[in-house]
Amino acid sequence: MKVLIMVLALVVGTHGLMGRTASCCFGLTADGGPGGSVGQLADGHNRFGQGLNAASYCIDNGAITDSSGRGCILTPPTTQFQCDVGATPASGFSVGCDGRLEANGSTKFVACPTEDNGGYNIYTAGPANQQGCVAITLTADNCKTGCPAPPPAPAPTPKTCPPELTGNWEYPHLIVPVDSSKPDTALGTSYNGTISSKISSIYNFDVPAADTGKTCSLVFLLPKKTELETSDFTLSGTGAIDFGMLSSAATAGTTYDSIPSTAKDYGVTTVVPGNAYTIATFPCPAGERVSYKASAKDNTCLNYFQDYNPSPIGLYITVC
Ligand SMILES: *[C@@H]1O[C@H](CO)[C@@H](O)[C@H](O)[C@H]1NC(C)=O
Ligand SMILES: *[C@@H]1O[C@H](CO)[C@@H](O)[C@H](O)[C@H]1NC(C)=O
Repeated sequence: MKVLIMVLALVVGTHGLMGRTASCCFGLTADGGPGGSVGQLADGHNRFGQGLNAASYCIDNGAITDSSGRGCILTPPTTQFQCDVGATPASGFSVGCDGRLEANGSTKFVACPTEDNGGYNIYTAGPANQQGCVAITLTADNCKTGCPAPPPAPAPTPKTCPPELTGNWEYPHLIVPVDSSKPDTALGTSYNGTISSKISSIYNFDVPAADTGKTCSLVFLLPKKTELETSDFTLSGTGAIDFGMLSSAATAGTTYDSIPSTAKDYGVTTVVPGNAYTIATFPCPAGERVSYKASAKDNTCLNYFQDYNPSPIGLYITVC
């Protein structure tokens, strides 16, 4: 029996990648020794320090040619950088992201004085036993890619605790409204937070000593009315509220005129029902009684029953 095996040869035609990067041309400046722009002798030796006209080079895929089309090489045994007629250019050159010329990834070149005119020849390694050689770098005036921005220094951004009452949290042990239209009247304690053109509310928190070393976030929760089971609120105006920390704790006897000064203003938060806001984050003032004030901005008028039953509403400290 004759078995015919059909071999299907699948020939995949690959388009060879061109392997070419566009040539890019540049001038060089030496930094080190007398420094200055790099020029060329008529024979293609690259030099600086003797006032030669600046030479122009082009780099293509790691190979440098000069403006006369000569291949630039590192002539053995001294590794002198020169461009010779008919020479195949050395591979491994690159222009670093900052513009510095690299030879196989190194920006270190060596320059050694010549006998004539104060010039310096350029090498990657340099001749042994020659006097007066100096370390240099060579910077291209073109063809650099630009270095990536340094990674930002680890910013001391304090983590914020969740603006929900999911983990550890504190509720205010005292809410004291103060009324600018009755500046010396103590309104006493309240279950409501009232924030209107005339009335601001002060909240006292007693942060337990156990929170030492922890992070605290001052959060303001304003659920939608439909999410409330045991609380309610009325809100009109823009919802802009200025929160701040007071310099000392308030008491039930605090009046508008005796509000402790604001130690830290946390700025204005514009509250919209259905949101939770992180007002500020700070190392927990463990073992301390701290007071925060909420005042209306613009025409905000908010009156709510502070309640941590679902859904929680009002000012809290979350701990993490
Ligand atoms: C890079 O290294 C290769 C292999 O050693 C060498 O042939 C080439 O000349 C070097 N190129 C440069 C610019 O130093
Ligand atoms: C507290 O807030 C609730 C909800 O808005 C309101 O019904 C109640 O009248 C308020 N109480 C006071 C004393 O403002």
